[in-house]
Amino acid sequence: MEGNGVVMNNEINSYNDCLKYINSFSDIAIFLAYNVNVDAIKFFKKGEEVQELINQFDEDEIIKKIKEYPRVIAHPTDFIARLIYSMKTGKPSEVSMLDDESLNKWFNGLKYDEERMGGQIGIISNILSMLNLKRIIAYTPILSKKQAEMFVDKENLLYPSVVNGNLLLKKPIESYREDDPTKINRIFEYKKGIEFKLGDEKIITPQANRFIASSRPDALRFEIKEELKKKLPEIGEMVDCAILSGYHGIKEKYNDGKTDDYYFKKAEEDIKLLKEKNKNLKIHLEFASIQNINLRKKIMDRIIPHIHCIGMDETEIANLIHVYGYSKLCEDIIKNSKIEDIITASKILLDKHENLELIQIHSMYYIMYLGRKNNPLSEDELKRTLELATILASSKAKLGNISNIEDLKTGLSIPYNKYSDLLTSIVENLKKKEEYADYKIVIVPSRLVKNPKSTVGIGDTISAAAFVSYVSISKKYIP
Ligand code: GLC
Repeated sequence: MEGNGVVMNNEINSYNDCLKYINSFSDIAIFLAYNVNVDAIKFFKKGEEVQELINQFDEDEIIKKIKEYPRVIAHPTDFIARLIYSMKTGKPSEVSMLDDESLNKWFNGLKYDEERMGGQIGIISNILSMLNLKRIIAYTPILSKKQAEMFVDKENLLYPSVVNGNLLLKKPIESYREDDPTKINRIFEYKKGIEFKLGDEKIITPQANRFIASSRPDALRFEIKEELKKKLPEIGEMVDCAILSGYHGIKEKYNDGKTDDYYFKKAEEDIKLLKEKNKNLKIHLEFASIQNINLRKKIMDRIIPHIHCIGMDETEIANLIHVYGYSKLCEDIIKNSKIEDIITASKILLDKHENLELIQIHSMYYIMYLGRKNNPLSEDELKRTLELATILASSKAKLGNISNIEDLKTGLSIPYNKYSDLLTSIVENLKKKEEYADYKIVIVPSRLVKNPKSTVGIGDTISAAAFVSYVSISKKYIP
């Protein structure tokens, strides 16, 4: 029922509904940490561009490397092998590079089309600033001038520092440090239908997606320095929620002998300090793509037990349950992308961690939550959070970037994808099963953009919008 311009149903159908919904974010404050970087993006528009890369090296060597499936890029052929694997399957992927001068030089020799804000926390900072949250406190261990310039310049987006023992919140552009390095990742975006040859094989990309070669500078340490660390309880008190990400950037070993264990210990301390004076603080972890299995396991053992919500894509949840020993289910998800399997995997994760309230999975065709029956939000309320997320996702895919709220009109004009009814009916049937009696399963089909301008960062955008909506509605249930 609709009357006097008041939206009574539970859907976000118009730009006006969208604005009203977003208005409720104006009393939300959030803390964000840790990973911000520059993304240098190359858009492959034609197969010849990939062919040129292949032609620089021995094809047999590349074919061999594809079979080996390198988990670190030590040589350009490792990169080409993993890029081709991503292009062949249409799956997104991120592989880290060795911190090596000649490798860097080779990557610098490629031509990039654009440089823009990257890293989960960088992308999320700008999106949430645009959504007019009351206050966003975004922390990243390194903040060069170039990096600071990529943050949206708005009063609600601030960087924390300590001056004379006091916490100071200033815009990133007023907070950068001259000597800080800049981390640059190389992003390779490809369209659907790009054709090239490798040996006798003809490869055609089944869908648009991206491959990331991420840099791991030794100088970038994953930590909040002592002075600011002491202020984390104060920061925790100032905010309603936090999004944490970037743990995938921790290295197993650094030049000075420090190891990942050292940094994970610090990361755990940070979370405890943030929560110290705010027991209602809700924390979302954006999982991200992690090739290194030890690292993946450490995030699972040491970070997941402290958080409430987690955002992942299909490949990420598949990899995660692989660590729990479900290798068959992992393979099935990667091969068949069936939503039933994704829900099974989400249930495994939720059942393992009592602290988790919501598992959120974003994929090409839908966004989904698995939560517990006793979650205070109704299924309709949960659904609305995902509806907003899919509008943002399609706006970003179509435009490449969302720079103001009016851009959401673009996303709203894109219809739900062709599998929408099918996916909804599969989920409705699953919900009737005994094994899901104690859960809430909520799905919203994607508004799928046919020729996306860019795909990098769409998952982060989805998670940011869904989580902040969740926190905003949850607030009314806090006694
Ligand atoms: C990862 C990458 C970063 C990219 C982001 C997008 O954090 O390291 O380069 O911008 O993912 O999701």
